[in-house]
Amino acid sequence: MANERRRGAHITGWGRYAPTRVLTNDDLSRMVDTSEEWIRQRTGILERRVASSGETTASMSLRAAQAALDVAELDPRKVELIIVATVTPDHAFPATACLVQDALGARSAGAFDLSAGCSGFVYGLSLAAGLIEVGQYDNAVVIGAETLSRITDWTDRNTCVLFGDGAGALVLQANGTRGGVLASVLRADGSGGDLLKLPAGGSVQPATTETVNQRQHYIHMDGREVFRFASRVLPEATRQVVELVGRKVEDIVLFVPHQANGRIIQSAVRALKIPPDRVFTNLARYGNTSSASVPMALAEAIDEGRVRKGDLIVCVAFGAGLTWAATAIEWSVPLPVPKSPRWRIFWRWMLYRLARIQSWWRRLWRQADAWIQRLGEGEDH
Ligand code: ACO
Repeated sequence: MANERRRGAHITGWGRYAPTRVLTNDDLSRMVDTSEEWIRQRTGILERRVASSGETTASMSLRAAQAALDVAELDPRKVELIIVATVTPDHAFPATACLVQDALGARSAGAFDLSAGCSGFVYGLSLAAGLIEVGQYDNAVVIGAETLSRITDWTDRNTCVLFGDGAGALVLQANGTRGGVLASVLRADGSGGDLLKLPAGGSVQPATTETVNQRQHYIHMDGREVFRFASRVLPEATRQVVELVGRKVEDIVLFVPHQANGRIIQSAVRALKIPPDRVFTNLARYGNTSSASVPMALAEAIDEGRVRKGDLIVCVAFGAGLTWAATAIEWSVPLPVPKSPRWRIFWRWMLYRLARIQSWWRRLWRQADAWIQRLGEGEDH
């Protein structure tokens, strides 16, 4: 990802959503053979959020995207591209991004899902920034969202203590000025695919009674190996991306690593010699939310005013694939962002209601059109 920039892709909006249901370590210790202390000491996680039965990856994506569009003051009808990074889409198809596009009423947008494990959001951000830089789009909404609770084996103590649900979103917009997403490093090593996977449900092992009984539709992970891999690639990718933009690790003002395990983050931070006050973590409250982890953490850090214009931010992630990715961002928006006036909040509320009606109308029209067509064909015969 060389740094030949024609125009910048700037972050102008950010949003996050976490389900309200909290699952604590104590709750888990009543479900599997573990303890509050073990989870806290070995992972740094205290609690995580779990989606309610009515919540899905699309519904959480929508909430995060709406929040990000509010901050950017971007009319959803003007959104040009929507990317949802996820390993827990609502369906294999249609893409979750298309469900979000419909609910937003983003009628001029392209939309697709991106699967790159927990690195998916950083991959998506890099892709969207590149498309904006070359002039193909003027804006994009990049979302990382997961309902990992639906693929977590709640009887497996090796995995169920780690994961949580949530969504985060960023709005990127073109701008002729310096800053925004500067460069990214995207890498993969498929030879490690078996270390972290969802064995069944794909073309290799379609769903059968057997795959269900053998619990093959849940996350399977070799935790120790993933730990070793992550501890190596986080510092490596960070150094590479910083070098790409001609800066030094010491220049990083905000470091946002994938929120997988506190010990992995500490080991990377130690190796990179980044002062702890420049590292953002919210892992204790949300656990590992896979693709949602980086955008949720970044959005929270921005809301807390942790960056100023000109600051260098590095986000770095690793995950299933194996994949890893880092991106360097120069912050370019003055903070805090003024609150929207009431009339604008009402206007947006109206737009989302209108989007629902329009979606319903298009479905109805499609059915009517098919019915008229069939009627015409019937008369011809
Ligand atoms: N409670 C109590 N004991 C446990 C638990 C638990 N929840 N889980 C494992 N143990 C036991 C193991 O069975 C093992 O017992 P044994 O020695 O008798 O065999 C012992 O604890 C030590 O196991 P380790 O695997 O060595 O423990 P470790 O310190 O490595 O921690 C962990 C395990 C937390 C899973 C760690 O390896 C880790 O975080 N790995 C990275 C995982 C990760 O980040 N995955 C996400 C990737 S991103 C994505 O795409 C979703």
